[in-house]
Amino acid sequence: MRVLLVGSGGRENALAWKLAQSPKLAKLYCAPGNAGIARYAECLEISSDDIDGLLKFAVGQKIDLVVVGPEAPLVAGIHDKFSAGGIKLFGPSLQTAMLEGSKSFSKDVMSRFGVPTAAYEVFTNAKEAMQYVIETEMPVVIKADGLAAGKGVVICDTSEQSVTALSEIMEKKVFGAAGDKVVIEKKLEGEELSVLALTDGETILPLASARDHKRAYDHDRGPNTGGMGAYSPSAQFDEAAIGDLVNKTIRPVIDGLRKEGTPYRGVLYAGLMMTKEGPYVLEYNCRFGDPETEVILPRLKSDLLPVLAEIAEGKLKRSSLEWHEKSCMTVVMASGGYPGAYQKGFPIRGIEAAEAIPDVFIFHAGTVFNSEKQITTSGGRVLAVTALGENLRAACERAYQAANLINFEGGFFRRDIGRKAIEVLK
Ligand code: AMP
Ligand code: GLY
Repeated sequence: MRVLLVGSGGRENALAWKLAQSPKLAKLYCAPGNAGIARYAECLEISSDDIDGLLKFAVGQKIDLVVVGPEAPLVAGIHDKFSAGGIKLFGPSLQTAMLEGSKSFSKDVMSRFGVPTAAYEVFTNAKEAMQYVIETEMPVVIKADGLAAGKGVVICDTSEQSVTALSEIMEKKVFGAAGDKVVIEKKLEGEELSVLALTDGETILPLASARDHKRAYDHDRGPNTGGMGAYSPSAQFDEAAIGDLVNKTIRPVIDGLRKEGTPYRGVLYAGLMMTKEGPYVLEYNCRFGDPETEVILPRLKSDLLPVLAEIAEGKLKRSSLEWHEKSCMTVVMASGGYPGAYQKGFPIRGIEAAEAIPDVFIFHAGTVFNSEKQITTSGGRVLAVTALGENLRAACERAYQAANLINFEGGFFRRDIGRKAIEVLK
């Protein structure tokens, strides 16, 4: 098969690495890719948002399957445009991608199909929203309705904070049109967990569990990021428990959407809060998680390419996936200043030495080759330093052994990825 992968992060590097192992792959392209993805794919100078440019390339090059990594092109309707152009694409339709593209759509779907989620109200008028937060019980969580690059969620402990957040989102439009509407919901307490499943709209294949670390610094301090590290499997939830969580939080939506005539086909990611009353869905994402994918795919024994192709065709021909017993951990190395402003263009040293360690994979997130063919930093998250091990502790030791060999100016990483889980397992 001739495959075009869309995206340029650590998630796409892990996807490229996995797809490249498929005996069914004839040629892999990636738009735009990065210096790490270039090991497995021919990288193209087409942005992941340039849907017309991507379609023109796919038609011209007789691409058999397009695999989309990030949410933005999905929420912009890439699936529908490629279907109309006769190209098969792994990723949900425009309408169902709204599970991520619109928080209010997503909450309405959850309520309609009986998925546990925090009580909520939706507002399009700033004054009414402000009146509501003055009268309602605190704390609340205020969410810009549309895509806001993972930044559109504000946790508010007081009415004053809520009014300020509403003013920023709805009046000052700090997230643009994403803030025309807001969801205001009850704040939930508990541990967070990501569950992901592949689906053709009917059959559901749960992926191995993974836990992300969203805060920038050790001990869950500092600002929220896209994710600073992850491990798989989760220490507390075995395969059966994950299956049960998928049945409570993903299956009702897949069944409900199919019955309404708009089947969800692709990967569905549920961000959960494990409360005392059970699992609650905080959000859905219509794509693979990043960095969850970097720890899930190294544990996948099955060939991924035919699974994605079957989903793109609308019919899965299998009912399960095979997994390695080993544990996997990834440590994200980020640019100084991330998730705020950061500088780019610093040469990265030590990647080869780190990769020489057995069972270590360096997935590139934000890297490019400079004019001297050196690998340099080009993003906030730079590398996902990943290792497999017999257990979580072994994977952790190996990932940190590798991360300690790599350096670039200003680079930093968390030193405590997986630490809590390793303590629990002890
Ligand atoms: P979301 O994009 O909806 O997942 O929100 C981003 C982050 O905000 C989540 O990973 C949680 O840490 C937090 N969050 C979102 N909704 C809630 C909620 N109802 N209660 C507590 N924390 C929340
Ligand atoms: N790691 C969080 C996300 O992919 O949204």
